Amino acid sequence: MPRGKFITFEGMDGCGKTTQLRLLASALRGAGREVVETVEPGGTDIGQQIRRILLDPANAAIHARTELLLYFASRAQNVAQVIRPALDAGQIVLCDRFTDSTLVYQGCGRGLDAATVLQLDAIACQGLRPDVTVLIDIDLETSLARAKKRNARIGQSESRIDDESAAFHDAVRRGYLALAAHEPERFVVIDGRTDVGGVYARIQEALATRV
Ligand code: TMP
Repeated sequence: MPRGKFITFEGMDGCGKTTQLRLLASALRGAGREVVETVEPGGTDIGQQIRRILLDPANAAIHARTELLLYFASRAQNVAQVIRPALDAGQIVLCDRFTDSTLVYQGCGRGLDAATVLQLDAIACQGLRPDVTVLIDIDLETSLARAKKRNARIGQSESRIDDESAAFHDAVRRGYLALAAHEPERFVVIDGRTDVGGVYARIQEALATRV
């Protein structure tokens, strides 16, 4: 059985990656492929419990290293329980965020050393890396406006990272673009400021030769 494909979606809050992931999942299923959708942090029952701790605004006192370990704790469980078994069974795994998020949010945003992030990645992911990463790029203003709208809709229960400063989110965006420039063969960068259908058409076009 050939190994399946591991595709991750990345981008700033409000970039639309979750919507795009779902559109791609249903198109792939329509084409007869077996698809597993998952999310970081979260993706498993244990990961969901960790997600609540990570995103709760009441946990503002969390130390940057504690936060880092918790993101990787969620990921270790997701890799072992969901992602690796699905890939071994030849399925396509679509994951909403993965280690690139940690490199940019905890690395570029919080200022943690990239080497430390990668050390933990080696432990949590056991060498698993995405085959393709779709980075949906939006500017800071669009991100903040969409995050605000989402929090008004679903409440503030997941707003801890959204509440960070503009400088933090700016560092995140620059970090993403630097990662994409460093690994152009893995990253597909899509302008996320247009309508959902337009963004999706560009993702489909970019993935046609890869999946
Ligand atoms: P989401 O709303 O896209 O599911 O992401 C949840 C938040 O967690 C988002 O603000 C980005 C943040 N995050 C990190 O800071 N580090 C990570 O490793 C991951 C996966 C997410």
